Amino acid sequence: MFVDTHSHIYSEEFSTDRNEVIDRAVKAGINKIILPNIDSSTIKSMLDLADSNPQLFIPLIGLHPTSVKEDFRKELEIIEYWFDKRKFSGIGEIGIDLYWDKTFINEQIETFRIQIGWAKKWRIPIVIHVRDSFQEVFEVLGQEKEESLTGVFHSFTGNAEQAAQVIDLGFKIGIGGIVTFKNSGLDTVVKQIDLQHILLETDSPWLAPVPNRGRRNESAFITAVASKIALLHETSIEEVARITTQNAQQLFGF
Ligand code: NI
Repeated sequence: MFVDTHSHIYSEEFSTDRNEVIDRAVKAGINKIILPNIDSSTIKSMLDLADSNPQLFIPLIGLHPTSVKEDFRKELEIIEYWFDKRKFSGIGEIGIDLYWDKTFINEQIETFRIQIGWAKKWRIPIVIHVRDSFQEVFEVLGQEKEESLTGVFHSFTGNAEQAAQVIDLGFKIGIGGIVTFKNSGLDTVVKQIDLQHILLETDSPWLAPVPNRGRRNESAFITAVASKIALLHETSIEEVARITTQNAQQLFGF
């Protein structure tokens, strides 16, 4: 059994065949799919999907760094409103993205900090998006860190030293399709990371693993990620499934 710890299957890329995609995921052995939010525009479709199959889906709430603009306070108010409405297993996805646009770097940092504060208040994990921003994210986490704060660095693409820093902070490392890409260099890093620190994810619809690279990603493709990790760790795909599922259960409390 697998857990896809990061999927945006509620997005419009799946509007024509979402049920078939879900069927394929279940047939591939996925028994939980975690749904990180993007911003106020995605909450309804995400929660509608989650409520259609509460056994399979676990929705998270949060404001994605690429959606942090002039109106970020209003966006944060909407997120905060949802905490009064229902229980969430985590805050995500949140973080800092300096790849696409650096205009709102200060607002991104403030938004990240505020959402970390909520995670500490509700004692739930955070799902962190890091893009060209390792230094900034580590700086904020270093200042905000306390015993109860935990989470995952989603779609990790850092080096071995950065992986060690993540583990030192008590966070998990989310590994997806990139580990199967030729010349990504992530394979040699993942080889050195103990399985107990790894979560499997797809980041659907993005970052499909080989042999589907470049196409739309879906949860069923997580088996390609798991078999690559099994190869790197010279173990079985069943062992990778068992340990990473346990890691996800511990982190998100299901
Ligand atoms: Ni994502």
